[in-house]
Amino acid sequence: RRHALILAGGSGTRLWPLSRTNMPKQLLALTGEQTLLQETARRLLPAVAAERVTTVTHADHRFEVVGQLHEVAPALAERVLAEPLARNTLPAIAWAVARIARDEPEALVGVFPSDHWIEAPEALRAAWEAAEAAAEAGYLVLFGIRPTEPATGFGYIEAGPALCAGVEAVGRFVEKPDARTAADFLARGGYYWNSGMFVFRADTFLGLLAEHQPELAAAVTAWAEQGALPGAEAYAALPEVSIDYGLVEEAAGRVAVVPADLGWSDLGSWEALYQQRDKDAAGNVVDGPVLPVDSGDSLLWSADGGLIAAYGVQGLAVVQTRDATLVCPRSRLAELKELVGRVRQRR
Ligand code: GDD
Ligand code: MG
Repeated sequence: RRHALILAGGSGTRLWPLSRTNMPKQLLALTGEQTLLQETARRLLPAVAAERVTTVTHADHRFEVVGQLHEVAPALAERVLAEPLARNTLPAIAWAVARIARDEPEALVGVFPSDHWIEAPEALRAAWEAAEAAAEAGYLVLFGIRPTEPATGFGYIEAGPALCAGVEAVGRFVEKPDARTAADFLARGGYYWNSGMFVFRADTFLGLLAEHQPELAAAVTAWAEQGALPGAEAYAALPEVSIDYGLVEEAAGRVAVVPADLGWSDLGSWEALYQQRDKDAAGNVVDGPVLPVDSGDSLLWSADGGLIAAYGVQGLAVVQTRDATLVCPRSRLAELKELVGRVRQRR
Protein backbone atom coordinates (compact mmCIF):
# COMPACT_ATOMS: atom_id res chain seq x y z
CA ARG A 1 0.00 0.00 0.00
CA ARG A 2 2.85 2.34 0.73
CA HIS A 3 4.46 4.13 -2.22
CA ALA A 4 7.23 6.69 -2.39
CA LEU A 5 7.69 9.34 -5.01
CA ILE A 6 11.08 11.03 -5.43
CA LEU A 7 11.18 14.45 -7.09
CA ALA A 8 14.44 14.79 -8.98
CA GLY A 9 13.70 17.36 -11.65
CA GLY A 10 14.93 20.58 -10.06
CA SER A 11 17.57 22.78 -11.63
CA GLY A 12 19.22 24.34 -8.57
CA THR A 13 21.39 27.33 -9.42
CA ARG A 14 22.04 28.42 -5.84
CA LEU A 15 25.10 26.18 -5.65
CA TRP A 16 26.80 27.68 -8.71
CA PRO A 17 29.33 26.88 -10.13
CA LEU A 18 29.01 23.28 -8.96
CA SER A 19 25.30 22.87 -9.64
CA ARG A 20 24.44 23.62 -13.28
CA THR A 21 21.56 23.01 -15.62
CA ASN A 22 23.28 19.86 -16.86
CA MET A 23 24.24 18.68 -13.36
CA PRO A 24 21.76 19.95 -10.77
CA LYS A 25 22.25 19.65 -7.04
CA GLN A 26 20.41 16.36 -6.50
CA LEU A 27 22.81 14.54 -8.82
CA LEU A 28 25.92 15.70 -6.94
CA ALA A 29 27.71 14.17 -3.93
CA LEU A 30 27.60 17.15 -1.57
CA THR A 31 27.39 15.52 1.83
CA GLY A 32 29.44 12.33 1.42
CA GLU A 33 30.24 9.61 -1.09
CA GLN A 34 26.73 9.27 -2.41
CA THR A 35 24.80 11.84 -4.41
CA LEU A 36 21.84 13.54 -2.73
CA LEU A 37 19.48 11.49 -4.93
CA GLN A 38 21.16 8.27 -3.82
CA GLU A 39 21.04 9.34 -0.17
CA THR A 40 17.34 10.08 -0.58
CA ALA A 41 16.62 6.62 -2.00
CA ARG A 42 18.71 4.92 0.66
CA ARG A 43 16.89 6.61 3.49
CA LEU A 44 13.53 5.47 2.11
CA LEU A 45 14.38 1.85 1.30
CA PRO A 46 14.20 0.48 4.86
CA ALA A 47 10.56 1.57 4.83
CA VAL A 48 9.31 0.89 1.29
CA ALA A 49 9.93 -1.80 -1.33
CA ALA A 50 12.09 -0.56 -4.22
CA GLU A 51 9.36 -1.72 -6.64
CA ARG A 52 7.05 0.89 -5.16
CA VAL A 53 9.38 3.87 -5.48
CA THR A 54 8.74 6.13 -8.48
CA THR A 55 11.21 8.85 -9.46
CA VAL A 56 10.23 11.80 -11.65
CA THR A 57 12.92 13.77 -13.44
CA HIS A 58 13.62 15.85 -16.52
CA ALA A 59 14.23 13.91 -19.74
CA ASP A 60 17.73 15.42 -20.01
CA HIS A 61 18.70 13.80 -16.70
CA ARG A 62 16.97 10.47 -17.16
CA PHE A 63 20.13 8.57 -18.04
CA GLU A 64 22.10 9.91 -15.08
CA VAL A 65 19.18 9.36 -12.67
CA VAL A 66 18.65 5.77 -13.82
CA GLY A 67 22.37 5.05 -13.40
CA GLN A 68 22.56 6.53 -9.94
CA LEU A 69 19.42 4.73 -8.74
CA HIS A 70 20.60 1.43 -10.20
CA GLU A 71 23.66 1.61 -7.97
CA VAL A 72 21.43 1.86 -4.90
CA ALA A 73 18.96 -0.87 -5.92
CA PRO A 74 18.35 -2.09 -9.49
CA ALA A 75 14.56 -2.11 -9.03
CA LEU A 76 14.60 1.66 -8.41
CA ALA A 77 15.82 2.20 -11.96
CA GLU A 78 12.71 0.49 -13.37
CA ARG A 79 10.32 3.25 -12.35
CA VAL A 80 11.76 6.52 -13.56
CA LEU A 81 9.33 8.90 -15.27
CA ALA A 82 10.96 11.46 -17.57
CA GLU A 83 9.19 14.76 -18.09
CA PRO A 84 9.76 16.20 -21.55
CA LEU A 85 10.16 19.61 -19.91
CA ALA A 86 9.97 21.07 -16.43
CA ARG A 87 6.58 22.39 -15.31
CA ASN A 88 7.42 22.55 -11.59
CA THR A 89 6.33 20.06 -8.93
CA LEU A 90 2.54 19.84 -9.24
CA PRO A 91 2.46 18.38 -12.78
CA ALA A 92 5.32 16.01 -11.87
CA ILE A 93 3.55 14.75 -8.75
CA ALA A 94 0.16 14.62 -10.46
CA TRP A 95 1.47 12.51 -13.33
CA ALA A 96 3.18 10.01 -11.02
CA VAL A 97 0.23 9.80 -8.63
CA ALA A 98 -2.19 9.20 -11.52
CA ARG A 99 -0.01 6.28 -12.66
CA ILE A 100 0.02 4.80 -9.17
CA ALA A 101 -3.72 5.35 -8.72
CA ARG A 102 -4.57 3.52 -11.93
CA ASP A 103 -3.67 0.22 -10.23
CA GLU A 104 -4.05 1.25 -6.61
CA PRO A 105 -6.38 4.20 -5.97
CA GLU A 106 -6.03 3.77 -2.22
CA ALA A 107 -2.23 3.75 -2.26
CA LEU A 108 -0.57 5.82 0.46
CA VAL A 109 1.94 8.01 -1.31
CA GLY A 110 4.88 9.77 0.31
CA VAL A 111 6.53 12.52 -1.78
CA PHE A 112 10.20 13.28 -1.17
CA PRO A 113 12.49 15.94 -2.66
CA SER A 114 15.84 14.50 -3.74
CA ASP A 115 18.06 17.37 -2.71
CA HIS A 116 17.81 17.67 1.08
CA TRP A 117 19.92 16.65 4.05
CA ILE A 118 18.30 14.67 6.85
CA GLU A 119 20.38 13.92 9.91
CA ALA A 120 17.89 11.49 11.49
CA PRO A 121 16.43 9.10 8.89
CA GLU A 122 14.78 6.97 11.62
CA ALA A 123 12.87 10.05 12.78
CA LEU A 124 11.73 10.62 9.21
CA ARG A 125 10.45 7.06 8.90
CA ALA A 126 8.58 7.38 12.23
CA ALA A 127 7.04 10.68 11.10
CA TRP A 128 6.05 9.04 7.80
CA GLU A 129 4.09 6.41 9.73
CA ALA A 130 2.35 9.02 11.86
CA ALA A 131 1.48 10.94 8.69
CA GLU A 132 -0.10 7.87 7.11
CA ALA A 133 -2.66 7.61 9.90
CA ALA A 134 -3.93 11.09 9.01
CA ALA A 135 -3.60 10.41 5.29
CA GLU A 136 -5.89 7.39 5.69
CA ALA A 137 -8.46 9.79 7.12
CA GLY A 138 -8.31 11.92 3.97
CA TYR A 139 -5.74 14.55 4.87
CA LEU A 140 -2.93 15.94 2.81
CA VAL A 141 -0.13 15.68 5.36
CA LEU A 142 2.97 17.89 5.65
CA PHE A 143 6.06 17.59 7.84
CA GLY A 144 6.69 20.62 10.03
CA ILE A 145 10.19 21.86 10.77
CA ARG A 146 10.74 24.22 13.70
CA PRO A 147 11.76 27.55 12.12
CA THR A 148 15.00 29.18 13.26
CA GLU A 149 14.93 32.39 11.20
CA PRO A 150 12.45 34.35 9.08
CA ALA A 151 13.54 32.62 5.87
CA THR A 152 11.53 33.55 2.78
CA GLY A 153 12.31 30.45 0.70
CA PHE A 154 9.98 28.12 2.55
CA GLY A 155 6.29 27.46 3.02
CA TYR A 156 4.89 28.36 6.46
CA ILE A 157 2.40 26.14 8.23
CA GLU A 158 0.10 27.53 10.90
CA ALA A 159 -0.54 24.63 13.26
CA GLY A 160 -3.93 24.04 14.88
CA PRO A 161 -5.37 21.54 17.37
CA ALA A 162 -4.12 17.94 17.58
CA LEU A 163 -5.88 15.49 15.23
CA CYS A 164 -4.31 12.19 16.27
CA ALA A 165 -1.02 10.97 17.73
CA GLY A 166 1.74 13.23 16.44
CA VAL A 167 -0.53 15.03 13.95
CA GLU A 168 -1.91 18.57 14.11
CA ALA A 169 -4.52 20.30 11.99
CA VAL A 170 -3.30 23.09 9.71
CA GLY A 171 -5.03 26.44 9.96
CA ARG A 172 -3.31 28.10 7.06
CA PHE A 173 -0.47 27.47 4.65
CA VAL A 174 1.52 30.33 3.15
CA GLU A 175 4.13 29.54 0.51
CA LYS A 176 7.24 31.74 0.49
CA PRO A 177 5.94 34.78 2.40
CA ASP A 178 7.75 38.10 2.12
CA ALA A 179 10.33 38.98 4.79
CA ARG A 180 7.91 41.01 6.94
CA THR A 181 5.26 38.30 6.95
CA ALA A 182 7.86 35.64 7.76
CA ALA A 183 9.19 37.73 10.68
CA ASP A 184 5.61 38.22 11.89
CA PHE A 185 4.94 34.45 11.79
CA LEU A 186 8.10 33.82 13.81
CA ALA A 187 7.22 36.46 16.39
CA ARG A 188 3.69 35.08 16.80
CA GLY A 189 4.88 31.49 17.16
CA GLY A 190 2.90 28.34 16.32
CA TYR A 191 4.27 28.17 12.76
CA TYR A 192 6.39 25.50 11.12
CA TRP A 193 8.43 25.49 7.95
CA ASN A 194 7.20 23.12 5.30
CA SER A 195 9.82 20.47 4.58
CA GLY A 196 8.64 19.87 1.02
CA MET A 197 7.64 16.26 1.80
CA PHE A 198 3.99 15.19 1.57
CA VAL A 199 1.91 12.13 2.45
CA PHE A 200 -1.59 11.44 1.11
CA ARG A 201 -3.83 8.77 -0.32
CA ALA A 202 -3.66 8.78 -4.11
CA ASP A 203 -7.44 9.20 -4.37
CA THR A 204 -7.42 12.11 -1.89
CA PHE A 205 -4.76 13.88 -3.93
CA LEU A 206 -6.56 13.33 -7.25
CA GLY A 207 -9.84 14.51 -5.71
CA LEU A 208 -8.24 17.74 -4.51
CA LEU A 209 -6.53 18.13 -7.87
CA ALA A 210 -9.81 17.74 -9.75
CA GLU A 211 -11.29 20.43 -7.50
CA HIS A 212 -8.48 22.98 -7.75
CA GLN A 213 -6.64 22.16 -11.00
CA PRO A 214 -9.26 20.39 -13.14
CA GLU A 215 -7.35 20.60 -16.44
CA LEU A 216 -4.22 19.13 -14.94
CA ALA A 217 -6.27 16.38 -13.28
CA ALA A 218 -7.98 15.50 -16.57
CA ALA A 219 -4.68 15.39 -18.50
CA VAL A 220 -2.76 13.16 -16.11
CA THR A 221 -5.70 10.82 -15.58
CA ALA A 222 -6.07 10.36 -19.33
CA TRP A 223 -2.35 9.59 -19.76
CA ALA A 224 -2.42 7.11 -16.89
CA GLU A 225 -5.52 5.32 -18.21
CA GLN A 226 -4.08 5.01 -21.72
CA GLY A 227 -0.67 4.04 -20.35
CA ALA A 228 0.63 6.87 -22.55
CA LEU A 229 3.69 9.06 -22.13
CA PRO A 230 2.98 12.76 -22.51
CA GLY A 231 4.54 14.46 -25.51
CA ALA A 232 6.39 17.74 -25.17
CA GLU A 233 3.48 19.79 -26.50
CA ALA A 234 0.93 18.23 -24.20
CA TYR A 235 3.21 18.60 -21.22
CA ALA A 236 4.01 22.21 -22.07
CA ALA A 237 0.27 22.94 -22.02
CA LEU A 238 0.06 21.99 -18.32
CA PRO A 239 -0.01 24.82 -15.78
CA GLU A 240 3.48 25.54 -14.46
CA VAL A 241 2.90 25.51 -10.72
CA SER A 242 4.31 24.00 -7.55
CA ILE A 243 2.25 21.73 -5.29
CA ASP A 244 2.62 24.38 -2.59
CA TYR A 245 0.93 27.20 -4.50
CA GLY A 246 -1.26 25.04 -6.70
CA LEU A 247 -2.74 22.68 -4.13
CA VAL A 248 -1.63 23.05 -0.50
CA GLU A 249 -2.55 26.74 -0.22
CA GLU A 250 -5.91 25.97 -1.83
CA ALA A 251 -6.81 22.90 0.17
CA ALA A 252 -7.38 24.59 3.55
CA GLY A 253 -9.22 22.35 5.99
CA ARG A 254 -7.88 19.21 4.32
CA VAL A 255 -4.26 19.72 5.37
CA ALA A 256 -2.49 18.33 8.46
CA VAL A 257 1.06 18.49 9.76
CA VAL A 258 3.40 16.11 11.59
CA PRO A 259 5.94 18.19 13.52
CA ALA A 260 9.25 16.41 13.04
CA ASP A 261 12.74 16.90 14.38
CA LEU A 262 14.77 15.50 11.50
CA GLY A 263 18.01 17.48 11.54
CA TRP A 264 16.72 18.81 8.25
CA SER A 265 18.40 21.20 5.83
CA ASP A 266 17.35 21.89 2.27
CA LEU A 267 21.00 22.67 1.42
CA GLY A 268 19.63 25.65 -0.44
CA SER A 269 22.86 27.65 -0.48
CA TRP A 270 26.60 27.29 -0.05
CA GLU A 271 26.12 28.75 3.44
CA ALA A 272 23.58 26.01 4.31
CA LEU A 273 26.07 23.44 3.07
CA TYR A 274 28.84 25.07 5.13
CA GLN A 275 26.60 24.80 8.21
CA GLN A 276 25.75 21.16 7.55
CA ARG A 277 29.27 19.83 6.92
CA ASP A 278 31.93 18.85 9.48
CA LYS A 279 34.61 21.50 10.00
CA ASP A 280 38.32 21.30 10.70
CA ALA A 281 39.80 22.79 13.88
CA ALA A 282 39.92 26.25 12.30
CA GLY A 283 36.29 26.08 11.19
CA ASN A 284 36.98 25.32 7.53
CA VAL A 285 34.84 23.06 5.39
CA VAL A 286 37.11 21.48 2.80
CA ASP A 287 36.34 19.19 -0.13
CA GLY A 288 38.85 17.91 -2.66
CA PRO A 289 42.52 18.83 -2.67
CA VAL A 290 42.70 21.88 -0.43
CA LEU A 291 45.48 23.40 1.68
CA PRO A 292 44.34 26.03 4.15
CA VAL A 293 47.22 27.85 5.83
CA ASP A 294 46.48 30.29 8.63
CA SER A 295 42.92 30.39 7.27
CA GLY A 296 39.63 29.82 9.05
CA ASP A 297 35.83 29.73 8.88
CA SER A 298 36.04 29.22 5.14
CA LEU A 299 34.43 26.96 2.58
CA LEU A 300 37.13 25.63 0.26
CA TRP A 301 35.79 23.31 -2.42
CA SER A 302 37.80 21.93 -5.29
CA ALA A 303 35.69 19.86 -7.65
CA ASP A 304 38.10 19.44 -10.54
CA GLY A 305 41.15 17.92 -8.87
CA GLY A 306 43.06 21.22 -8.87
CA LEU A 307 44.59 22.34 -5.58
CA ILE A 308 43.13 25.28 -3.67
CA ALA A 309 45.84 26.81 -1.47
CA ALA A 310 44.42 29.45 0.88
CA TYR A 311 46.72 31.74 2.84
CA GLY A 312 45.59 34.01 5.64
CA VAL A 313 41.93 34.21 4.67
CA GLN A 314 38.89 34.18 6.96
CA GLY A 315 35.22 33.62 6.21
CA LEU A 316 35.76 33.10 2.50
CA ALA A 317 34.02 30.74 0.09
CA VAL A 318 36.04 29.39 -2.84
CA VAL A 319 34.46 26.83 -5.15
CA GLN A 320 36.56 25.71 -8.06
CA THR A 321 35.28 23.70 -11.01
CA ARG A 322 36.79 22.92 -14.41
CA ASP A 323 35.53 26.04 -16.10
CA ALA A 324 34.46 28.44 -13.35
CA THR A 325 35.57 29.48 -9.87
CA LEU A 326 33.49 31.25 -7.25
CA VAL A 327 35.21 33.57 -4.78
CA CYS A 328 32.89 35.27 -2.30
CA PRO A 329 32.83 36.21 1.38
CA ARG A 330 30.65 33.69 3.23
CA SER A 331 28.65 36.59 4.60
CA ARG A 332 27.48 37.49 1.08
CA LEU A 333 26.64 34.04 -0.26
CA ALA A 334 22.95 34.87 -0.03
CA GLU A 335 23.50 37.27 -2.92
CA LEU A 336 24.84 34.57 -5.22
CA LYS A 337 21.79 34.88 -7.48
CA GLU A 338 22.96 38.36 -8.49
CA LEU A 339 26.32 37.00 -9.51
CA VAL A 340 24.86 34.07 -11.44
CA GLY A 341 22.62 36.52 -13.29
CA ARG A 342 25.67 38.55 -14.27
CA VAL A 343 27.50 35.42 -15.38
CA ARG A 344 24.60 34.51 -17.65
CA GLN A 345 24.48 37.99 -19.19
CA ARG A 346 28.12 37.68 -20.02
CA ARG A 347 27.60 34.64 -22.24
N1 GDD B 1 10.34 16.12 -11.47
C1 GDD B 1 10.44 17.40 -11.16
N2 GDD B 1 9.98 18.33 -12.05
N3 GDD B 1 10.97 17.74 -9.98
C2 GDD B 1 11.06 19.05 -9.68
C3 GDD B 1 10.61 20.07 -10.56
C4 GDD B 1 10.06 19.67 -11.81
O1 GDD B 1 9.64 20.48 -12.67
N4 GDD B 1 10.84 21.27 -9.96
C5 GDD B 1 11.40 21.00 -8.77
N5 GDD B 1 11.56 19.66 -8.59
C6 GDD B 1 12.10 18.94 -7.43
C7 GDD B 1 13.41 19.55 -6.93
O2 GDD B 1 14.51 18.79 -7.43
C8 GDD B 1 13.28 19.37 -5.43
O3 GDD B 1 13.76 18.09 -5.03
C9 GDD B 1 11.78 19.42 -5.15
O4 GDD B 1 11.16 19.10 -6.40
C10 GDD B 1 11.27 20.77 -4.62
O5 GDD B 1 11.47 21.77 -5.58
P1 GDD B 1 12.18 23.15 -5.23
O6 GDD B 1 12.19 23.98 -6.47
O7 GDD B 1 13.48 22.89 -4.55
O8 GDD B 1 11.13 23.80 -4.21
P2 GDD B 1 11.44 24.93 -3.15
O9 GDD B 1 12.67 24.60 -2.37
O10 GDD B 1 11.42 26.25 -3.84
O11 GDD B 1 10.17 24.90 -2.17
C11 GDD B 1 9.67 23.67 -1.65
O12 GDD B 1 10.53 23.13 -0.66
C12 GDD B 1 10.68 23.94 0.55
C13 GDD B 1 11.61 23.19 1.49
O13 GDD B 1 12.85 23.02 0.93
C14 GDD B 1 8.29 23.97 -1.05
O14 GDD B 1 7.65 22.75 -0.78
C15 GDD B 1 8.36 24.83 0.19
O15 GDD B 1 7.07 24.98 0.78
C16 GDD B 1 9.30 24.17 1.20
O16 GDD B 1 9.42 24.97 2.37
MG1 MG C 1 14.26 23.30 -2.63
